[in-house]
Amino acid sequence: MTENKICRLFGIKYPIIQGGMVWCSGWKLASAVSNCGGLGLLGAGSMHPETLKEHIHKMKGATNQPWGVNVPLLYPEMDVLMQIIVKEGVKIVFTSAGSPAKYTGFLKSKGITVVHVVSNSRFAKKCEEAGVDAIVAEGFEAGGHNGREETTTMTLIPLIRRATNLPVIAAGGIGSGAQMLAAMALGADGVQIGSLFALSEESSAHASFKELSINSGEGDTMLSLKKLAPVRLLRNPFFEKVKEAESRGAGEEELKTLLGKGRAKKGIFEGDLTEGELEIGQVAAMIRKIEPVKTIFEQLISEFNDVAAKIKKME
Ligand SMILES: Cc1cc2nc3c(=O)[nH]c(=O)nc-3n(C[C@H](O)[C@H](O)[C@H](O)COP(=O)(O)O)c2cc1C
Repeated sequence: MTENKICRLFGIKYPIIQGGMVWCSGWKLASAVSNCGGLGLLGAGSMHPETLKEHIHKMKGATNQPWGVNVPLLYPEMDVLMQIIVKEGVKIVFTSAGSPAKYTGFLKSKGITVVHVVSNSRFAKKCEEAGVDAIVAEGFEAGGHNGREETTTMTLIPLIRRATNLPVIAAGGIGSGAQMLAAMALGADGVQIGSLFALSEESSAHASFKELSINSGEGDTMLSLKKLAPVRLLRNPFFEKVKEAESRGAGEEELKTLLGKGRAKKGIFEGDLTEGELEIGQVAAMIRKIEPVKTIFEQLISEFNDVAAKIKKME
């Protein structure tokens, strides 16, 4: 694995980004990733402004390597979060779940590198117009919120590659060096990994959530709540409740009431495996162990290099 344009854009050693993840990616996980030569992202989606400030301060003390903040644009305290980001001198911001037109200009005017997460080519074009520095193309396999088109990473990466000349970071279903290499063979310049890091030692997710995830198998995660905001969840009693409501044609209002507030916190952070939303990707079926970030990096890089060498011999 050699340095490429994603490494140069962020000033990192490996083109590996740890996706911002609600209730998982605080300063402990993000700094561990940055210290291993990837790009760690604080997940501001589950942080009140004061909490974000605290994590930024801890991050500054825990690493001198590049790092950033992920901001899903659907949260009410967005303007305050953005002011904190600027005031604290954050240099890299990944936005998601909204229009790239909303904050890109503002952040760029403050000298911040901006990346936006998309799940289709139409939004990739919008990112270009908005002036982002790179795009995360996130496929249907991914944990967390997901595209309505259900385009898998295998298909999405070449489509986005064709739609834009911007650097492309592939996300969704990447949990090994071979998968990383595959994404790059399809035209990605780097990868964003979520689930694998959500299940690492340094992730702030609850131990029960991690345990259930590493014991899950094929077909145990599914897309849910497509009428509201589609999200990939591990199947549990809450998931089944939603499924039952959806199958009898429940409307948006009923689903909103059923979802209520704080389900992701309940499931991922508090470990309520019955009533919580358990956000994790399809790749959880491949992850069998909770390991430190350092071990995860060593495995990703050595497998990437081994498989690349094997494929080269096939020529
Ligand atoms: C528990 C969990 C929480 C997530 N929260 C966020 C989030 O707050 N913001 C965001 O942009 N993406 C979020 N994601 C998506 C990840 O950043 C990443 O793009 C995705 O997990 C990649 O797919 P993978 O899970 O197959 O690796 C989340 C994913 C997981 C598993």
